[in-house]
Amino acid sequence: MARVTLIGGGPGAWDLITLRGARALENAEVILTDHLGPTEALEEIVDTSQKTVIDVAKLPYGKSVAQDEINRLMIEHAKAGRRVARLKGGDPYVFGRGHEEVLALAEAGVECEVIPGVTSAISVPAAAGVPVTHRGLTHSFTVVSGHLPPGHEKSLVDYGALARVGGTIVVIMGVKNVEAITRTLIEEGLDPATPAMAVSEGTTSRQLQVRATAETLAAEMERAGVGSPAVYILGNVAQFANFSS
Ligand SMILES: C[S@@+](CC[C@H](N)C(=O)[O-])C[C@H]1O[C@@H](n2cnc3c(N)ncnc32)[C@H](O)[C@@H]1O
Repeated sequence: MARVTLIGGGPGAWDLITLRGARALENAEVILTDHLGPTEALEEIVDTSQKTVIDVAKLPYGKSVAQDEINRLMIEHAKAGRRVARLKGGDPYVFGRGHEEVLALAEAGVECEVIPGVTSAISVPAAAGVPVTHRGLTHSFTVVSGHLPPGHEKSLVDYGALARVGGTIVVIMGVKNVEAITRTLIEEGLDPATPAMAVSEGTTSRQLQVRATAETLAAEMERAGVGSPAVYILGNVAQFANFSS
């Protein structure tokens, strides 16, 4: 039966893919890659000269390959009898549209194995010394997508509840809206002095990070040049960030 392996590639450093993921890449004949994850250093994991590598990166403001086209390519190659790997950044099921691809494959009668990955939501803060939980300090963490600003008609995030949740708040895809998000959280009751930190291009050689408070995060990110892709955190654990800025 036609088959695709959907692989979480981890946050960026090539050796943060799982062993199972690396073995599946090695076994693949066709690899469809995203922009994030270990794509840049794919040849560290597999001999790319022996494979067909298709870049289906969906850069926010750049080259874009529609999801339908990605689905079509996976289905076409799988039905032609090729071993297909779909490589995604982080974990395929954390804001990665992974399950949309699983459903599209199922509808086309293509089997799919999903190999989880190390999500940036947890590993990127960790790369800067920040645990998302710490005994006695926080008993929860909430991961939200900040790709839509608070109040947007399509936003599904309850910022009032988030401001009161009392645990660690992790925001991904939120660089563009960081000012609106932090302002709204403070308006909704989050202490402006809440420790905060942000990391861009975490686990790569270009990793950049900044420490701030909820009130100063947007300005500090701009000052330090912490741009997309970035993860930011609001909560007491941000005080553990292992850098001084
Ligand atoms: C479309 S989401 C995919 C998330 C992915 N599925 C995961 O589990 O990490 C892309 C967002 O993940 C975050 N991200 C992914 N890799 C990152 C990295 N190396 N450093 C900082 N943020 C990263 C950024 O917020 C970026 O905008």
